[in-house]
Amino acid sequence: MENAAPLASVAEVAEAIARVDTIVDLEQLRVQWLGKKGHLTRAMQGLAGLDPEQRRARGAELNQQKNAIQDLLEQRRAEIDQQVLERRLASESIDVTLPGRNAVQGALHPVRQTLDWIEDYFARLGFDVADGPELEDDFHNFTALNIPEDHPARAMHDTFYLEDGRVLRTHTSPVQVRYLAEHQAPLRMIATGRVYRRDSDLTHTPMFHQVEGLYLDEGASFADLRGLLADFLQEFFGSSSLPVRFRPSYFPFTEPSAEVDVGCVICNGEGCRVCKNTGWLEVLGCGMVHPAVLEMAKVDQEQFTGFAFGLGVERLTMLRYGIHDLRLFFENDLRFLRQFA
Ligand code: FA5
Ligand code: MG
Repeated sequence: MENAAPLASVAEVAEAIARVDTIVDLEQLRVQWLGKKGHLTRAMQGLAGLDPEQRRARGAELNQQKNAIQDLLEQRRAEIDQQVLERRLASESIDVTLPGRNAVQGALHPVRQTLDWIEDYFARLGFDVADGPELEDDFHNFTALNIPEDHPARAMHDTFYLEDGRVLRTHTSPVQVRYLAEHQAPLRMIATGRVYRRDSDLTHTPMFHQVEGLYLDEGASFADLRGLLADFLQEFFGSSSLPVRFRPSYFPFTEPSAEVDVGCVICNGEGCRVCKNTGWLEVLGCGMVHPAVLEMAKVDQEQFTGFAFGLGVERLTMLRYGIHDLRLFFENDLRFLRQFA
């Protein structure tokens, strides 16, 4: 009778099964009762030692228990499977009623927008769009523009020098020199790009953009230059009421030379920090190409004259949008930049 050890009642097993809530634990219970060495299996093996009458009665009892437990296990397994499925559906479900998340779309930087506008404007007037290196040699940045070594005009440009004597170009005017070496008059070209100076305040940054313009033709005059730039500014600002003034100035590579100021849009010309209380903001330099530059470029000066200009792209942009600090263009603050999208 050693093998007919008293078994837990089916009710007790049922309770244990009900407490289990993973398939793994349930399987453990099954093995414990119905596995090869499980309680019930062992009890059944013990039947061999009983006399036939006892064996029949006990056998039937054990069979009943076995079936009952099997049913309970199956039922519980189905329940657990259902719970697992429900949890998965809940966690993986997509709520199609939620509002969509908009993909953030980039936009062109305001300075890029101005550059594109200017390139497009001059291209329509038949200007070729050229470019040149930002790392420039002394000859192209200065000497060929009639700024020999020790010329005081070199101090006007707070230049970044490299150890090998080259410079970060201080203006786009060297592109004039490079272009003249490869093209014959008559010609019209603009060159856009980055330039560098040791400068930083409300209206100056160490890196900024210029647009250079060069125009050589028979009879090209200062009046043509003035007309071209006046039209450009009027079109760019979309208004003829914005005050613009030509002011005599000096550049070694033009003669006569002028600078153009636009009425400060921050204070409407009253005077403020941005315009340093002058009421004006300088946007460009220009003039008739100096004979020494034409000579170096071997232009026939009997036949051709020419003019050139250099626009400050950030200055134009800040005036167009009423920005009070030019440095904002380079801080990459998205709250600022999104306004131009
Ligand atoms: C020049 O650079 C001349 N090369 C322009 C020129 C070209 C004259 C061809 C004659 C013929 P200037 O140093 O003034 O000139 O600079 C031109 C413009 O660049 C200025 O009017 C201003 O709008 C802009 N600018 C100058 N320095 C800065 C700076 N640090 N930050 C932003 N804009 C600047
Ligand atoms: Mg200037």
